[in-house]
Amino acid sequence: MVRETSLTPSDLIWPLFIIDGSNERSAIKTLPGVERLSVDLAVAAAKDAAALGIPALALFPNTQDERRNETASEAYNPDNLMCRALAAIKAAVPGIGLIADVALDEYSSDGQDGLVREGEVLNDETVAVMVKSALVQARAGADIIAPSDMMDGRVGAIRTALDENGFEHVQIMSYAAKYASVFYGPFRDAVGSGARLKGDKKTYQMDPANTDEALREVALDIEEGADSVIIKPGLPYLDVIGAVRNNFNIPIFAYQVSGEYAMIEFAARAGAFDRTNAMMESLACFKRAGASGILTYFAPEAARLLGR
Ligand code: PBG
Repeated sequence: MVRETSLTPSDLIWPLFIIDGSNERSAIKTLPGVERLSVDLAVAAAKDAAALGIPALALFPNTQDERRNETASEAYNPDNLMCRALAAIKAAVPGIGLIADVALDEYSSDGQDGLVREGEVLNDETVAVMVKSALVQARAGADIIAPSDMMDGRVGAIRTALDENGFEHVQIMSYAAKYASVFYGPFRDAVGSGARLKGDKKTYQMDPANTDEALREVALDIEEGADSVIIKPGLPYLDVIGAVRNNFNIPIFAYQVSGEYAMIEFAARAGAFDRTNAMMESLACFKRAGASGILTYFAPEAARLLGR
């Protein structure tokens, strides 16, 4: 009766990892219970998600090794894994929203989110490639473009390109405050970028010690045309969600990232606490902090428990 916030399936966005092939699924050792899926199985998963009341999927490709290179040219191949998954799900499950991740680590040979020259990640050159990537994704059926790279100026550049190409209706969900976090480890295994990555991403992802910078990043992305923003990681950064909530009127999405999911999974497996209660408590806390929704690998399971 006096509960201040609530969690429903419509709050949950389900991240899916896509692999080549058909009827293929592969386990991720560091992300127990999560599997990479071939496009046909992703379509089946999308049907289940829609039936559970999950409003949207966030797709991430595990690009085949032979298609990765230094220029990340696979990112704008209109027939890449991401585009094939977008088109197939859009055709079979038109009622579910499709969020397409845009960043180069899923296509490049070196695991950085941007193009690298002499050990440096290049901002503007990367943005140009991301624009081309966003356009093939929009053409394939993406409803929302989600740049997760943290280059400067990419939201404005993608917005302009979408508008000029007849995709005025495609939204941008920007990873506005994304911290250089250790909690992305299992994700990098899932998309196959982890083993390639040399060094870190600290020249473009944020310092975990900063809050004011998050507010400046969110302000810039809103100015450039973002329709909603993502704060990431989730639980260790609930204060940042609260701060953004208090300063801006824009939908905020929290990403309960792979390492957070793994912490709960592995702790529960070791008998430290009850898994289901940990999952539901963690998700409820995002709503309390001010998030409009949560990207979480628990989405289908939590939605099933919550009912429609
Ligand atoms: C990279 C990207 C990452 C995640 C989403 N997009 C990892 C990174 O920045 O290295 C992390 C998601 C997760 O850990 O669940 N473009």
